[in-house]
Amino acid sequence: MGTDMSDQRTATLTVGNTRVELPIYSPTIGPDVIDIRKLYAEADVFTFDPSFTSTASCDSAITYIDGDKGELYYRGYPIEQLAEQSHHLEVCYLLLYGELPNAAQMRDFENRVTRHTMLHEQIQYFFRGFRRDAHPMATMVGVVGALSAFYHDSLDNNDPWQREVAAIRMIAKLPTIAAWAYKYSIGQPFIYPKNSLSYSENFLHMCFAVPAEDYTPNPVLAKALDRIMMLHADHEQNASTSTVRLAGSSGANPFACIAAGIACLWGPAHGGANQACLEMLREIGTVDRIPEYIRRAKDKDDPFRLMGFGHRVYKNFDPRAQVMKQSADEVLGLLGIENNPTLRVAKELERIALEDEYFISKKLYPNVDFYSGIILDAMGFPTSMFTPIFAISRTVGWISQWREMVVDKDQRIGRPRQRYIGPTRRDYTPVESR
Ligand code: ACO
Repeated sequence: MGTDMSDQRTATLTVGNTRVELPIYSPTIGPDVIDIRKLYAEADVFTFDPSFTSTASCDSAITYIDGDKGELYYRGYPIEQLAEQSHHLEVCYLLLYGELPNAAQMRDFENRVTRHTMLHEQIQYFFRGFRRDAHPMATMVGVVGALSAFYHDSLDNNDPWQREVAAIRMIAKLPTIAAWAYKYSIGQPFIYPKNSLSYSENFLHMCFAVPAEDYTPNPVLAKALDRIMMLHADHEQNASTSTVRLAGSSGANPFACIAAGIACLWGPAHGGANQACLEMLREIGTVDRIPEYIRRAKDKDDPFRLMGFGHRVYKNFDPRAQVMKQSADEVLGLLGIENNPTLRVAKELERIALEDEYFISKKLYPNVDFYSGIILDAMGFPTSMFTPIFAISRTVGWISQWREMVVDKDQRIGRPRQRYIGPTRRDYTPVESR
């Protein structure tokens, strides 16, 4: 990987009396990028881009998003085609290795993931150190970080084999960790993974089975969960992925990097939005209260935002939300709960917001989390498990991006600059004279 030095186009920037020629590189699709790396050396200025709205931090061949057209591709394949025809473990293979697997490769990959789903038995005792009322995300950040204390043979970033083992371990073990975080919080025994089940069936089994009874995962719910996982599997350089890359740029081990990603995902502006969205729908409660919440969302003096609406990149529609909406209809139809109060509020809120001038002019549309929370709720998951399920799904994206970064010659330790706006130099005064 690396930038294409044969591309000779340049952009000229004039700073005072200094003229700097900055190379322009073209991607395979999407906007060109201007290489500003020599700007500080030649013109003694930094660029200023808080929140990185106009800054590409890396080359990547994994995921492409066109926010205006509402397009999302994994390795070139449109998300709608994958959601319809593929399954999560195949998407994992695609994201990790760049191509769709043939039948033998798929079998081998499934076999490897399935055989890594168990956790080191001692990790059980680690769980028991948490308070029962801990949020499962808090438990996950701790337990995933602690994996580096258990799997010493996959910590060396410079060894391709160790990177491979770490990737498989993470994809395989995250569902077990999330399910156990849940079981611990409700005081039920941990349920061990079952190799005869598919990835999503196994997760349902570990969450909802109890030793005293037989449990058969519902195939329609397993398929819907698998689809949620595919839709969340990667999303190029979002906040949590950039966190994983930045943590990894220092050479930190992969388990520590993914723990950092999980911590970032937890925030309500990112992966925490699906929990926040369902809690908001419940708080609204009845359709007649919607106008009050719409009014609050528009009020500049009120910090309230309509959770599940808006996206940093998608400004026309979120292609994942469209697939998810269809899935929500299927699941709720199957369970015969199309008419539950939360869903009635959700449907009416969506209708009103899509017709409202404020939301239209600001290009605020329901995002993927608006619908995923409704599906997960219908499946029986408590809201506190929504973000852990997002973390399970995004693990493959984080790992794929981390692997890409580790072998990218252009990537050094990440180190943003700043515009300093604090006091200029001043002299220390002893406490008695202050
Ligand atoms: N409700 C009401 N107003 C909103 C909302 C919302 N959900 N989202 C944005 N706006 C308004 C902002 O107040 C702002 O108005 P202004 O121009 O008058 O100041 C304008 O729309 C632009 O919003 P920004 O915050 O600048 O957009 P940004 O790209 O920074 O934020 C974000 C995107 C964080 C997703 C935001 O829309 C939000 O907070 N949404 C709710 C949380 C959410 O659903 N997050 C999930 C994201 S998807 C994911 O992580 C998978």
